[in-house]
Amino acid sequence: MRLEDETALITGAASGIGKATSLRFAEEGAEVIVTDINSDEGPKIADEIDEAGGDATFYELDVTDADRFDELVADVYDEHGLDILVNNAGTGHPSAYVEETDTSMRDFVMDVNIKGVWNGCHAALPHLKEQGSGSIVNVGSLASIFGLPKQAAYSLSKGAVLNFTRAVAAEAGPKGVRANTVCPGFTDTPLLDQFLAAADDPEEARQKLREDYPLKRLGEPEEIANCILFLASDEASWVTGHGLVVDGGYRTS
Ligand code: NAI
Repeated sequence: MRLEDETALITGAASGIGKATSLRFAEEGAEVIVTDINSDEGPKIADEIDEAGGDATFYELDVTDADRFDELVADVYDEHGLDILVNNAGTGHPSAYVEETDTSMRDFVMDVNIKGVWNGCHAALPHLKEQGSGSIVNVGSLASIFGLPKQAAYSLSKGAVLNFTRAVAAEAGPKGVRANTVCPGFTDTPLLDQFLAAADDPEEARQKLREDYPLKRLGEPEEIANCILFLASDEASWVTGHGLVVDGGYRTS
């Protein structure tokens, strides 16, 4: 198993990509610290892992709460150890031009998508550097690379995640800690459903998105989880500061 004897803390783990990553990591032998702001669904993921013979614990965590993040990571490090951090929690926003986007909406997206990732790294890095090993995977987006129209706040936040992760990799590499970004294309999760719900005809909009991809379909959360797994594991031991695009070939068309 690829993550035997390792402990992984995953944010936004109650749904979509975070849920699929939690289940995948558990299959590979990791002890999974399932965290999410959603304390109804989160514990169900931990239960599902435990019932399948794995080892998981749920903790409620809002990634925008820096003090709580520091405190939780310190407790997890002491009680379970910590080898892998996946900063996956993220949010979208209704499609709108820059000049139509409320300041409060802009700030909300920055708080979750940028400060949430910062807070996770701020909390984990002292422990990982001290132990001289660890792997951080931050979840960016195709919007880390492309500027998406009417998704400027999201694009700003995900671009920041990619470059922040490079800085973390440069800082922490000498202490044996790696940091990488996964940049998914449109992936079939509740977040995508929310995005499509704003379209006049969500099913037609979904079909149009599929047509943009050479593979003619959207990503599945499990396909993103597999790439997060690769970057988190020792198989990627010489990979750091990288943005791994997982997009069904979108960039080629
Ligand atoms: P999702 O909506 O299915 O899951 C997101 C999870 O994050 C939810 O469980 C939610 O409760 C949690 N969350 C939201 N705010 C939080 C907070 N403040 N603190 C802690 N947890 C919080 O979304 P999905 O699609 O699985 O997204 C996961 C990541 O992947 C996000 O960072 C998203 O931006 C990114 N992404 C998603 C794509 C897609 O097409 N679905 C494409 C590219 C990137």
